[in-house]
Amino acid sequence: MLGIETSCDETSAAIVNGSLRVRSNIVASQIQEHERFGGVVPEIASRQHILTITPVCSRALHDANTSWDMLEGVAVTRGPGLAGPLLVGINFAKGLSLARGIPLYAVDHVEAHILSVWLDPDAGRPQLPMVTLVVSGGHTELVLVDAPGRYRLLGRTVDDAVGEAFDKVGRLLGLPYPGGPSVEKVAGTARDATPLPRAWLPNTYDFSFSGLKTAVLRLVQGHAKLVTDQGPDKAHSLPSETVASIAAGFQISVCDVLTKKLAGAVKDYGALSAAIVGGVANNQFLRSMALDRLNVPLLAPGFGLSTDNAAMIAGAALLNPHSVGLGLDAAPSLSLDAG
Ligand code: KG4
Ligand code: ZN
Repeated sequence: MLGIETSCDETSAAIVNGSLRVRSNIVASQIQEHERFGGVVPEIASRQHILTITPVCSRALHDANTSWDMLEGVAVTRGPGLAGPLLVGINFAKGLSLARGIPLYAVDHVEAHILSVWLDPDAGRPQLPMVTLVVSGGHTELVLVDAPGRYRLLGRTVDDAVGEAFDKVGRLLGLPYPGGPSVEKVAGTARDATPLPRAWLPNTYDFSFSGLKTAVLRLVQGHAKLVTDQGPDKAHSLPSETVASIAAGFQISVCDVLTKKLAGAVKDYGALSAAIVGGVANNQFLRSMALDRLNVPLLAPGFGLSTDNAAMIAGAALLNPHSVGLGLDAAPSLSLDAG
């Protein structure tokens, strides 16, 4: 199965075989293209996907020691994501399906993140039911997984996604783009952690991060003695210990809420395992806090399978196939098919 992922700022192609072995997983990141804008510019992303998709697919075939003739199916992300970027992958996949006479599979990006733990032999075996925390730049969802294709949405963010909050806080603190990994790095050097609020949203599995982000903004403005209309861009003048302390306080607040709700859901639903997937799953502080709080095995895919990648797209099409025709269209606001 050839997987294709172009929903945001990574052009990715991968080959996964029928027994879910990842034979290649090529990711061309556009971080450099978007860095100077401090976020993803959809138009630039689409153009870059157009330039990169053919070489990325060729490389995936080459690295898997296979060829276009050997493909038995092509799987592509149909949403959620940015409309223009999604269409680049979808049109490429349709062309391939038509030219080679192979089936076309449409994949939900969030479902692919959930199923990514099935692809990593080192992550452990998913034991069902499993509670999965999906944490990325666009998503924050707590999902009960009964089986591939059978999901119950327990909670989600009511405002910002976790990765988005990390990225915004990174920017407020004057740290390099993308903010998530930068915040984790400087937080690791902190001597203390600035106390910051947590939005518990009691009696729900929902999350909220916008208040926390605003609290960081107020702190940065206070520390830098800036008036609001001067904006936060001068935050880089903050002493590095202050930046580290705020980053650590932010990370603790976020991870405290995420892991307590994850552990609470595992207990409430009698889940036999838990998983953290999506780009923010790379955060080691989050993983270790979750490990401390869980009394079931925690699965978290390795680096190449947690940030956006096409192996999870091919894997999702193998685990829960949705064969579609050439009328397939992008679904930018697709939400997980969960009861
Ligand atoms: O899954 P992903 O690659 O793309 C989306 O589907 O959004 O996730 C990207 C997000 C970004 O917001 C990035 O800052 C965040 O994951 N991220 C992290 C870390 N590594 C990536 N956030 C916190 N700590 C990290 N180590
Ligand atoms: Zn993603």
